[in-house]
Amino acid sequence: MTAITSKKLQIAVIGGDGTGPEVTAEAVKVLKAVSKLEKFDVQFDPFDICGNRYLQKGITITDDEMAALRRYSSILLGAIGHPDVPPGVLEKALLLRMRFEFDQYINLRPVKLLPGVETPLKDKKPEDIDFVVVRENTEDLYTGVGGCMKKGTPDEVATQTAVYTRKGTERCIRWAFEYTRKRNNPKGKLLTLVAKTNVLTFGHDLWMRTFQEVAKEYPDVKTDYNNVDACCMWMVKNPEYYDVIVTTNMFGDIITDLAGMLQGGMGVAAGGNINPEKGGCSMYEPMGGSAPKYTGRNVINPVAAINAAAMLLEQEGYTKAAERISRAVSVVTGTKMKSQAAGKMGYGTSEIGDLVCENL
Ligand code: IPM
Ligand code: MN
Repeated sequence: MTAITSKKLQIAVIGGDGTGPEVTAEAVKVLKAVSKLEKFDVQFDPFDICGNRYLQKGITITDDEMAALRRYSSILLGAIGHPDVPPGVLEKALLLRMRFEFDQYINLRPVKLLPGVETPLKDKKPEDIDFVVVRENTEDLYTGVGGCMKKGTPDEVATQTAVYTRKGTERCIRWAFEYTRKRNNPKGKLLTLVAKTNVLTFGHDLWMRTFQEVAKEYPDVKTDYNNVDACCMWMVKNPEYYDVIVTTNMFGDIITDLAGMLQGGMGVAAGGNINPEKGGCSMYEPMGGSAPKYTGRNVINPVAAINAAAMLLEQEGYTKAAERISRAVSVVTGTKMKSQAAGKMGYGTSEIGDLVCENL
């Protein structure tokens, strides 16, 4: 099947599990509203892919669904995860499969403290917490390379190999340089490589050499290097130092949970799994998970999902529409919401969506 090429923006929607469908509904509401204002056509095609279906029918995702999804340039994902499904099953069969098979090699995770949002960092203001993590998304410890022997015995051996390729490393680093250039931070363009070259002397040496080589093509971008442990320290102490961070898959996973808390928690943090190539299929998601205990109560925070929708539009080239959403979200967090925590927002889930629409 070939990619969808109509002028209309066609988005595949996977609401998924728990609160996923609720937050996705608000993101869709906001996308519809902004499309009217910016005068473009948008269509939403729902896909019933979730942990519930897996429990009932034993299906995670079919090859036909994979083929159908691949034709979209953008997928909007709510959350995948069910308390009754053992850990790893859905993650591997759905989320990681899509990242790998659709070759979504960039995991873009903006870290921005919005007005009115509380951060656990004392004295830090929105202007202090505004950076972006570019996480490699297809290699490293996530490839599933490894194995075990004598399982369950005292002699058990298990290996899990971090795999890095020159191609995979270079395309991610190059994208991060391009992104840093485009972001054009008025405080100066700075790309920081985060790795662990002092210990991972093969894999992260490849990262370092590739970083230094590609850097020569971007003389306008300043570069720096942090070991990942030091990065965790600086991120808490001096988050204002960072502009763009580029890092490996595993470290990116870890530091973006830390970063997510600095920006006000999982209610606001969003990410994009991006295949930047022509005809590539990308997927945008709130980072919060399925939050089973809040399901169906109209109390979950949809801001992260709405932010994911803005990221989708930005990547699709609808820059003005994306800015309109971001600005509206800032107004709502800054002047309306009492808190970003579920049940404490001062509004219900759908009212937050309405407020964003009213402020577009
Ligand atoms: C994330 C998640 C996933 C990851 C899990 C659910 C497989 O933690 O998107 O950060 O480790 O990448
Ligand atoms: Mn994670």
